[in-house]
Amino acid sequence: MIDTKFNELFQQAMTSDSQLIARVLLTSNEFKGVMHGVESLVDVGGGDGTMASSIALAYPDVKCTVFDLPNVVEGIQRNEKVGNLTYVAGDMFEAIPHAQLILLKWILHNWNDENCIKVLKQCKEAIQSRDKGGKLLIIDMVVGIPSDNLNQALANVHMLSILGGKERTEQQWKYLFINAGFNDYKILSILGPRSVIEVYLA
Ligand SMILES: C[S@@+](CC[C@H](N)C(=O)[O-])C[C@H]1O[C@@H](n2cnc3c(N)ncnc32)[C@H](O)[C@@H]1O
Repeated sequence: MIDTKFNELFQQAMTSDSQLIARVLLTSNEFKGVMHGVESLVDVGGGDGTMASSIALAYPDVKCTVFDLPNVVEGIQRNEKVGNLTYVAGDMFEAIPHAQLILLKWILHNWNDENCIKVLKQCKEAIQSRDKGGKLLIIDMVVGIPSDNLNQALANVHMLSILGGKERTEQQWKYLFINAGFNDYKILSILGPRSVIEVYLA
């Protein structure tokens, strides 16, 4: 009973967060730059699809996919039909559908380094090189960006104690990218205490 109530509240929090982040991102010039030339996108661990459906509505020519665990995808109930949005069930540790842009929003901070590298390696298999327009987009905290922040420190304690994940500094993110085989990254500081990180393959 408590678990059911907690899951419900957690899902509502994720939905509200995605609504807020989508509103900020979709009106920013930096995000227009990120989406330039993108024809397909997979939101890995995309939950109920709030983020991906906002992007799909704003970019009707981009083929968007929400990818999440089978029990999550089966339980999704959406009222509106978005023509360029589909839902695919699977496990991000096993394989991720191919796309030009792979999105990981609020995913990697849930996991330890070893598991993050496993997921990042699957992302690497799913995208093409930078010159062909491939990119990975991570929305998560980069501790210390935009500046040292009490919320980030508290979030780190929360992630460590609840899930065994953590909030990471730029050096800790870089360690993950290099160990998963990525070659370059760029941090866009457009979401306050959270960042948008573009990660590339040569
Ligand atoms: C913290 S929620 C983030 C949801 C969404 N990205 C957002 O920001 O609102 C983490 C999501 O990852 C999904 N997830 C967990 N393990 C997964 C796996 N092995 N493969 C695919 N999705 C997974 C969960 O079901 C959940 O929807």
